[in-house]
This record gives sequence, C-alpha cells and structure tokens, in this order.
Amino acid sequence: MQKAQPIGVFDSGYGGLTVLKEIVEKLPGYDYIYLGDNARAPYGNRSFSTVYQYTLQCVKWFFQQGCPLVVLACNTASAKALRTIQQNDLPIIAPEKRVLGVIRPTTEVVGNYSDCKNVGILATNGTVKSESYVIEIHKFFPDVAVYQQACPMWVPLIENNEHMGHGADFFIKKNLRQLFAQNPLIDTVLLACTHYPLMYEKIEEFTPLGVKIIPQGNIVANSLATYLQRHPEMDKEISKNGHRLFYTTDSTEDFEEKAAIFYGQPIVARHADIG
Ligand code: DGL
Repeated sequence: MQKAQPIGVFDSGYGGLTVLKEIVEKLPGYDYIYLGDNARAPYGNRSFSTVYQYTLQCVKWFFQQGCPLVVLACNTASAKALRTIQQNDLPIIAPEKRVLGVIRPTTEVVGNYSDCKNVGILATNGTVKSESYVIEIHKFFPDVAVYQQACPMWVPLIENNEHMGHGADFFIKKNLRQLFAQNPLIDTVLLACTHYPLMYEKIEEFTPLGVKIIPQGNIVANSLATYLQRHPEMDKEISKNGHRLFYTTDSTEDFEEKAAIFYGQPIVARHADIG
C-alpha cells in the first residue's frame, strides 16, 4: 500500500492561502502542501488554454510530490481548467487521485444567504467570462438571479500591496457601482476570487449597508471536511501529522513576506520548478 501523503492546495499566487487558512483551522491534523504559481500570476486575464496548461502542470507537480488529493483554491483555475482536468486528464495520468475546485462547493450554498434571491458575484475577468457561477448557481438555486462583475484591477492591487491605500478606492468603488447598477436589490455579494478577502474591509466600506459579503474560504473548508467524511478511502490516503509545506514558482523571499499577510502567520517557503 502507498504511504499516506499531504493534501495539495493550489493557487496562481497568494489568494489560495486565504482558503488554506480556513481549511487548516477546520482540519488541523492533516498535512498540506501549498503551491503558488507566482512566477506566472495573475491568471485572471489569461486565456482558457493558458490557464488550463499552467494549472495542469501544477497538478502534475502535486502528483509528483505524492498528493492523492489536490484542491484548486483559485476560482480562475477552477473555472477554466478543473472540468477538463477531471474529465480528460485524470483518467489517463492518475485515475486514483482527485482534484477538487472552489466553485462547486460555493454555488451549493450561496443561494441560501440571499433573502430576495439576488446574488452578486465579484471575480476576475476569466471567472466571469466562463459563466461558471451563473451556470452552477442555477443548478442548485433556479430561482436566484445572478449578477456578475469583473474586477480586473483588484488582484494586481493586492499582489502589489496597494489594496488598502487610497488608490484602491477608485477601482473598488467603480466595480461595486457597476455591480449594483445591474440590480440595486442585490442583498448578497460573493467574493468569488480567493484574493478578495484581503480587501474585505474596503469592500464593506463601499457596499450598501445591510448587504451580506461572503468570502468562500470557510465554505470550501466545510465542504472538504464533508468530502473526506464521505470518502474514507481517500481520507486514509492522506497523512495526518499537522505538517504544512509552502512552495512558490517565484522568489521565496517575496513569497514569505506576502504570504504571511494572506495566511495570517509567518511561513517558510521553498522554490518549485514547474513546466
Ligand atoms: N485567486 C485567483 C482566483 O480565485 C485569481 C488570481 C489571479 O488572477 O491569478 O480567481
């Protein structure tokens, strides 16, 4: 029998750390390997085929590390690459392994937050164009109206640590105005990009009072816990020593500095060669 190995958690850069943080809080005993593809981030404005190729390369890297289960803690990768990897690649390269995303668990519950059945989605260009949230939410909540707004400047502002400065206000206000112009009755706004929780306070400042703002880390963590309960055959493949390893495809010094902000505590990073 193969030795138990960590869960892989992936993002284009730092955003997935906001999800990993919640997963670790929920499931502290498990081992995790995080990979940020910082050298090629952001993914948000890249084409479908580029995001798919990059994500597949990173998934293969996790498999080389031995991970039996990989969570794509990135909406852009989940929207543009997950289905093809699950349906076309996994059966050939690793039929016994699993890759999960963040869109499905989020869309399963987000409709429950809205009283008036009007949900707003804030996300990258890639996620919005994929229409994944609209399609998936309608599967679980056919009576919920979904309004999407791309926020192409938000990830670059966060990656450059400018998101709490006054410069960021312009873009945050602009995109929220565009969202609520689609329907002023929206009462629930989903942060459908794993970077956005870093700007939570600013988003809240410019969002109409009473509107619920939903980050997805906690939702994804709960869903992973349920998945592992339902799949004991996968659960026993995962090592449980409370270990965490952090990898980046770019500079480890830069990663360590910024990752601490996203993850909420200091980390030590290693370099990963991908592709
Ligand atoms: N964190 C990624 C997401 O959830 C987006 C970052 C990027 O554009 O690379 O969509």
